[in-house]
Amino acid sequence: SSTVSLAVIPGDGIGPEVTAEAVKVLLAVTDGGPVRLELTEYPLGAEHWLATGETLPDSTLEALKGHDAILFGAVGAAPGDKSIPSGLLEREMLLKLRFSLDHYVNLRPSRLYPGVASPLANPGTVDFIVVREGTEGPYTGNGGVLREGTPHEVATEVSLNTAYGVERVVRDAFRRASERPRKKLTLVHKHNVLVYAGRLWKRTVERVAVEFPEVSHDYLHVDAATIFLVTDPSRFDVIVTDNLFGDIITDLAAAVTGGIGLAASGNINMDGTFPSMFEPVHGSAPDIAGQQKADPTAAILSAALLLRHLGLEKEAARVEQAVEEDLAARTGEPRTTAEVGNAIAAAVS
Ligand code: NAD
Ligand code: IPM
Ligand code: MN
Repeated sequence: SSTVSLAVIPGDGIGPEVTAEAVKVLLAVTDGGPVRLELTEYPLGAEHWLATGETLPDSTLEALKGHDAILFGAVGAAPGDKSIPSGLLEREMLLKLRFSLDHYVNLRPSRLYPGVASPLANPGTVDFIVVREGTEGPYTGNGGVLREGTPHEVATEVSLNTAYGVERVVRDAFRRASERPRKKLTLVHKHNVLVYAGRLWKRTVERVAVEFPEVSHDYLHVDAATIFLVTDPSRFDVIVTDNLFGDIITDLAAAVTGGIGLAASGNINMDGTFPSMFEPVHGSAPDIAGQQKADPTAAILSAALLLRHLGLEKEAARVEQAVEEDLAARTGEPRTTAEVGNAIAAAVS
């Protein structure tokens, strides 16, 4: 038997609640199998910052690099919370992890599972993936402020797009499209306004497309993409897009496929140089934290993505199957976070 070493970062708010259920399911699905999971928990997040002033110390970052993968919950304070500066943990911890571990593929699948209610009257068959760039765009902290607090303040956030960064994520998206039945890729950008970055993305897609003649591709401006995500989500197969557009459209995609409580993601370093990190798309949900109201399904499906990334396809499929059955059997009667986790863990045992 072999050992897989996982780092677990529960984080803030509902993070610890949903992560506990994902861990339960991971342990249940691997129990008695050939792979033994070894879990190491890292207490990072708001509480840790308040107690120590640390967001993500270098020593912790180095320790995290020694694991095979990372399971992450969520970080972030409530919007009105004055005890911690807005964006501090998001930037100095979560984004620092994604950047330092070179998570250039932010994989966000959207599927409307059978029996799950969509807010759309006629959603059709919805099953697509968003390949969101994870290390560039306006997320790099490449900006600044002049004359802050004065009537003459100037604030900039510059979107960074490199040929190297765009090409590797576009190639990954094409490869994923080539392995799916419909083999269709849609570039989502805004090259009518963001002309320099837009040109780079468009030209890169045209060039990489030549390597994948079996994949068809088209293009949508991001504003129009939000229309079709609501009016005709079944048209999408693989969407490739930049970091910020990808953030926004994946919350929308989650909403049309049954809610943010179901949306999983992986921050993937495809080269295997660094461990990849799996987390629900949602945040720390301060409005429901500590009440066992959060749906752990997104965290559990993220754990399935983690298993697949580590080559544990059978285990990943079992978790997804159990989730699918659990979703189909839901009656609308509320269950606690742990009740949902227990049911899915029992189904994979
Ligand atoms: P959010 O995703 O935390 O919450 C948005 C809404 O969705 C809330 O009403 C919440 O109750 C609901 N929700 C979220 N997850 C749910 C679940 N599993 N089950 C049921 N309902 C769920 O987004 P927000 O309110 O914009 O952000 C709250 C904090 O989280 C902020 O500090 C933000 O920066 C941070 N955040 C962190 C991550 C992350 O760690 N990956 C992602 C997004 C937001
Ligand atoms: C997400 C979140 C993060 C993002 C924030 C918290 C940095 O919204 O994972 O979708 O914008 O990527
Ligand atoms: Mn987001």
